[in-house]
Amino acid sequence: MDYSNDYSNWEKFWQSHDAGNEPKTFIDNWSNLSWQVGLEFWREVFDRKAHGKTILECGAGEGRTSLYLAGFGYQPTLIDNSQASLDLAQKHFSNHGLSAKYSLADVQSMPFPDNHFDVIYSGGLLHHFDQPLIPLTEMYRVLKPGGILAATIIPRKFSCQTIGDGQRFIANVCYKTFKGEFKHLIKNSRKNWPFYVNRLSLKEYIDLWQDLHLTVEFAGGFCPFPSFALPPTWQRQYTKFLKNHLENWKQFNLSQTRWAELWGVGYNIYGRK
Ligand SMILES: C[S@@+](CC[C@H](N)C(=O)[O-])C[C@H]1O[C@@H](n2cnc3c(N)ncnc32)[C@H](O)[C@@H]1O
Repeated sequence: MDYSNDYSNWEKFWQSHDAGNEPKTFIDNWSNLSWQVGLEFWREVFDRKAHGKTILECGAGEGRTSLYLAGFGYQPTLIDNSQASLDLAQKHFSNHGLSAKYSLADVQSMPFPDNHFDVIYSGGLLHHFDQPLIPLTEMYRVLKPGGILAATIIPRKFSCQTIGDGQRFIANVCYKTFKGEFKHLIKNSRKNWPFYVNRLSLKEYIDLWQDLHLTVEFAGGFCPFPSFALPPTWQRQYTKFLKNHLENWKQFNLSQTRWAELWGVGYNIYGRK
């Protein structure tokens, strides 16, 4: 069964994206740092490894990665099956005076010719398939020979974020109970995260890359620090701590150790066609 084709949930997710779901007291600076580290990681990889500048971002959402890369001369095409996500992306690109191509389509059957892009990247997409080989085969088809197929994956697994999620849950319960927002609490706990997430290991992803005859050049865990829901003063302290340890964070992401695979929030993987 393909759970990822739940267009309406993604559409609702992106329509409500600007509003945000958490109380404003929980300022989430971990998120910005995490994006910064991730974006720099991929730019450095693509600058070093790719033979050209055309990049296809699959399941692009609001196109944060494409937007960043466009600022460094990449020519992105964004594909997503949610119109609301592509509308948001278009808004971000025009706000930054940058341009991209947009395609409202399923990543399992893409409207592009064979051997077309220098880089294919997906962030936060593949773990939503119970058979990621289906979209990966399609990505392989549209990738140029010698091109790079790269992904950021956040599967359902134990990681440092399991601890962070426990803390977030308790903080939310305390906050909403204190505020008397019981209805909201029950509604949120029922709603939860309405998307399927698989449990594939890093080894299983490496096997998928190899099944497609891609040469895996990197596969490792990323992000050694969890996101916590903290009041502003503590959040500022935590952000300061994270900024002081940014180099350790980057080293962890590059290490490709068993420890990074287990403790890290997700996996980064890339290989060449
Ligand atoms: C978790 S979001 C990631 C968005 C973005 N890449 C990011 O990192 O912020 C997953 C995205 O994949 C899209 N998606 C899910 N299944 C898809 C499919 N079969 N074809 C195209 N897009 C899909 C969703 O609409 C959503 O925008």
